[in-house]
Amino acid sequence: MKPPRPIRFFIRTFGCQMNESDSERASGLLLGAGGVPANGPEDADLVIVNTCAVREKSEEKLFSYLGRLAHLKKGKHVRIAVVGCVAQLRGWEILEKCPAVDYVFGPDNAAEIASLVERDSALKSVSTSWSEEWRETPPALIRRDSPASGFVTVMEGCDNFCAYCVVPYTRGREKYRPLPSVLDEVRDLARKGYREVQLLGQNVNSYRDPESGKPFAELLREVAAVDGPQWIRFLTSHPKNFRPEIAEAMAGIRKVCRELHLPLQSGSSAVLKKMKRDYTREDYLDIISRLRRLMPGIRLSTDIIVGFPGETDRDFEETLDILRTVRFGSLYSFRYSPRPLTAAAKLNDSVPREVKQRRLAEVQRLQKEIQLEDHRRLVGETMKVLCLGRGRKTPDLFSGRNEGNQVVNFRSAEDPTGRFVEVRITGFGPYSLVGEKAG
Ligand code: 5AD
Ligand code: SF4
Repeated sequence: MKPPRPIRFFIRTFGCQMNESDSERASGLLLGAGGVPANGPEDADLVIVNTCAVREKSEEKLFSYLGRLAHLKKGKHVRIAVVGCVAQLRGWEILEKCPAVDYVFGPDNAAEIASLVERDSALKSVSTSWSEEWRETPPALIRRDSPASGFVTVMEGCDNFCAYCVVPYTRGREKYRPLPSVLDEVRDLARKGYREVQLLGQNVNSYRDPESGKPFAELLREVAAVDGPQWIRFLTSHPKNFRPEIAEAMAGIRKVCRELHLPLQSGSSAVLKKMKRDYTREDYLDIISRLRRLMPGIRLSTDIIVGFPGETDRDFEETLDILRTVRFGSLYSFRYSPRPLTAAAKLNDSVPREVKQRRLAEVQRLQKEIQLEDHRRLVGETMKVLCLGRGRKTPDLFSGRNEGNQVVNFRSAEDPTGRFVEVRITGFGPYSLVGEKAG
């Protein structure tokens, strides 16, 4: 039976850009099925929590959020669905641990949530089967959060099985999206006036069109040939799959931003080997030199894990050494945390928590110093910024990103959201730049 009024839904997203993109898709599907968005969990009939399993801390955050949501059910008819990576990994366990949760859907089953606004079911359910086929969401059904920058998923899953990583067990094996549907979605963004396209996948460099076998470099060329969007970014790349042709394609296509996120994880070849990353410190440094030769000024960012089993002080020094040599524009750093099903979970988590904490603090201190030095040099420069809206923490300023993907908060008399603007840099912090709209 159809409920008397439309179901109001609220989606809370944890984790990476892929999850943000999945939530935009889910939101569109729910709207398409007759649902309406709620302002917050308190005034929703259906609360959907999109989850991240990559670190233990992400799971802890989820369970504490679910704990806080439980009170919503007191005296009210509210359903709670858990979707995404933790849903896939934990399945029924979530229902056992959190009685307030009604439904669990893995990343490949997210389309099924549309049925929840059509038919209210009191039956608890878990749906976590992987599909081998690529599943399309028509571009018109996606409800995008940003008016300027659009995510386009090109592949999903991962075949690498890095020793620490749970992703191959939550997102499954690599699946590539047919190139014609990637291009359809990019054209749809172009028609809607989007200025930037962000191609997404756990391992974008291993992309192959399932029909023609065209590789990632060709995908970049074909996406760039679509008129409209002026900036193209992509993530995540893997140093092992980052073939020279990809760097050359980037350098040859002006629309591809001079920016790359290339997770290093550790600067020690011995640790990289134990992590099953399949490249050495030297291989990584070679890629960086090639990128800088082809695209001087390219801005690089990376991920670092400290305290992987067996990481010695010397190994850790090698990580710091690479950070000093490469001078990344930004960096995400994490304390190693053992994850279920992974190869490293069988190893002794030998680095004490205090040591991990000290190493993490050291990485972050060094990186902050590097960023402050680099940002200081930008004062007085004028740069192109894509305005994405008002600053979340600074609502009196507008906020955007430059070609290098740096956050730039700036003053402007009129609202330039969704447009490119020239911004003169007048100040900086360790993690962002501050400026004024020029002209
Ligand atoms: N422990 C700590 N960090 C991890 N990451 C992935 N798995 C783990 C783990 N078990 C980090 C990696 C990856 C980023 C998304 O999360 O640095 O690149
Ligand atoms: Fe995880 Fe490695 Fe795959 Fe990245 S490449 S998702 S770190 S297994």
